[in-house]
Amino acid sequence: MKIVFHATGGRPEPWLADLAASIPGADVRAWQEGDTAPADYAVVWQPPRAMLSGRTDLKAIFNLGAGVDGIMALGDALPAGVPVVRLDDAGMGVQMAEYVSHAVLRYFRRFDEYAMQQQAGQWRFLKPHDKLSFTVGILGLGILGSRIAQSLRDFGFPLHGWSRSPKEVAGVTCHAGEEGLDAFLAASRVLVCILPLTEETRGILNRATLEKLPQGAYLVNVARGAHLVEEDLLALVQSGHIAGATLDVFREEPLPPAHPFWREPRITITPHAAAVTLRGDSVRQIAGKIAQLQRGEAIAGVVDPQKGY
Ligand code: NAP
Ligand code: GLV
Repeated sequence: MKIVFHATGGRPEPWLADLAASIPGADVRAWQEGDTAPADYAVVWQPPRAMLSGRTDLKAIFNLGAGVDGIMALGDALPAGVPVVRLDDAGMGVQMAEYVSHAVLRYFRRFDEYAMQQQAGQWRFLKPHDKLSFTVGILGLGILGSRIAQSLRDFGFPLHGWSRSPKEVAGVTCHAGEEGLDAFLAASRVLVCILPLTEETRGILNRATLEKLPQGAYLVNVARGAHLVEEDLLALVQSGHIAGATLDVFREEPLPPAHPFWREPRITITPHAAAVTLRGDSVRQIAGKIAQLQRGEAIAGVVDPQKGY
């Protein structure tokens, strides 16, 4: 069995070694410009167009991330009929739960305001927020959104969630589709975005939707930068409608030094670090799925090209 590998921005050697060690009989190679030699599987992150174009010999393309917006943007350069497979959690769920719980607790317990008071040398007790009205709304109730909900539920936050199809998640008031969005937004004191980036969700965090949040709401975006209309958020933070935002993803990454977000103290910036791809977990998951495919079994995590995730 032949596996071709390419991950933009990373060293291939440890991946090649781990894939070879985990998949019996696998001949694993790093893709080089001009490599059109036969392959059964591709394992990729942000592959160049030339790597996959016309490769109908592949049985599957494994994407080394949960988000497939980058690879789906290759469009016609993706070989027709070859399934694209995303990572299902693979250790990212708990990282997302840590990141979002930290952000929600920081706002709920007013640690952001205490940090500003410390800068000013102020000792002043701040009255705690009322938990029953500190509702967290999670945009996206898939693998990562449900794991975030699980952790926030343990802290006792009232939770709302929004997905494309109707769902039942314990402890979460679920809303679905366009018709469910306004009620979801009106209930969300903290809005967490963990949606895939598709043509339907691009720009979903804009002035019109953010204005539907209660006055003094918070935003946590751990999905993709293109979900957010950045100038709309900035205006709403400056007007006070949005009290603060924690952003892990941006339209342009790295965030350019001149970007106004750097100078807005109510916006917290992290460098696309909310949940990273873990090599051990990812290789184990991909090796397991290749074994299933070799036995002719169906696998989880196959992207629906119509939905784009
Ligand atoms: P997932 O399991 O596919 O879940 C996606 C959820 O979004 C589902 O609940 C889906 O609804 C909902 N959804 C999609 N389109 C929708 C629409 N138009 N309207 C309403 N709901 C919609 O994805 P995941 O594994 O949780 O990952 C989510 C995203 O997180 C990834 O795509 C990636 O962009 C991002 N991510 C970021 C980082 C980071 O470090 N910042 C790391 C990993 C992932 P249905 O359930 O009805 O289909
Ligand atoms: C990271 O952003 C991912 O999509 O896995």
